Amino acid sequence: MVHSIEYINDERFKWWRIEYLRKIFKFINYQDSPSILDVGIGEGHWSIPILEIMQEDWFFTGVDIEEYWVHKSSERLKKHFPTKKDDIKVLQGSAYKLPLVDDSFNLVTCQTLFLHLDSPSKALSEFKRVLKPGGYMLIAEPINIFNRLDISSVDENLDVAIKVSTTNLWLYYHEGIRKNNQGNQHIGAFLLNYIQKEKLNVIQIFGNDQVDITTKIKNNGIWWENEEEIRKYATLGGASKQIVETGLMALKKVAQMKKKQSLENCFSQIIPSSMVIYLIKK
Ligand SMILES: C[S@@+](CC[C@H](N)C(=O)[O-])C[C@H]1O[C@@H](n2cnc3c(N)ncnc32)[C@H](O)[C@@H]1O
Repeated sequence: MVHSIEYINDERFKWWRIEYLRKIFKFINYQDSPSILDVGIGEGHWSIPILEIMQEDWFFTGVDIEEYWVHKSSERLKKHFPTKKDDIKVLQGSAYKLPLVDDSFNLVTCQTLFLHLDSPSKALSEFKRVLKPGGYMLIAEPINIFNRLDISSVDENLDVAIKVSTTNLWLYYHEGIRKNNQGNQHIGAFLLNYIQKEKLNVIQIFGNDQVDITTKIKNNGIWWENEEEIRKYATLGGASKQIVETGLMALKKVAQMKKKQSLENCFSQIIPSSMVIYLIKK
């Protein structure tokens, strides 16, 4: 299956307020006509707001490991910025071995790429290689345990044991993904260590400025994943059968409550901010 296909859609445009991103960009001193690289571009949901902030004055390169996303993003960006067609190129390649020369970009950026990588150091050192001296990196990655914690409008009086069981289950689930070399779902919290190892300077770390309030119930409220997938990865992560089954029962109980409240047309879920943006200078 194409990488991340089930997670990439226009909902991503709601993750950031453009005014907030604009404030972040005030910390970046870029020259005229900066060259920008977005790695793991997907369909361009991160590149588009960034390029809008930079107005007409840029040269853009995207990279993705999947041919599918290379075509999709190239088409989408060229359609979105019709007067800039000649300044946009998207290449197929890996974050571990970028098909680009040293010291060639003013800004290297990505969103939800590192969470999929089993070697963040390797990618970060490639980002550093292609970045011009004095250039910036802008890395937006999640800490996905926050949005798994059941802090929602339904659970003020929910038994603490149920909240513990669901959190427990998600931690093992994420550990299973990591053990399976599919990356670290909490990478937003750990990137600092990797950045320091590369001797890069963190200028500022930003959190997301909004919470996701949604009445949508996915997979009967359990989340995006199906039961079998949760069972598989949590077990791989080291959870006992009892932890998995108790956790699943707790998830279902919370799901039922959310569903009921959703039917009554209340907000069912308030997802706390889980994204972190690192602004880094070479
Ligand atoms: C979750 S998507 C994020 C897409 C886009 N950055 C966004 O925020 O909408 C992750 C993207 O990274 C790409 N990807 C995964 N591993 C990669 C690698 N090693 N090198 C380059 N791209 C990779 C996937 O194909 C996918 O398009």
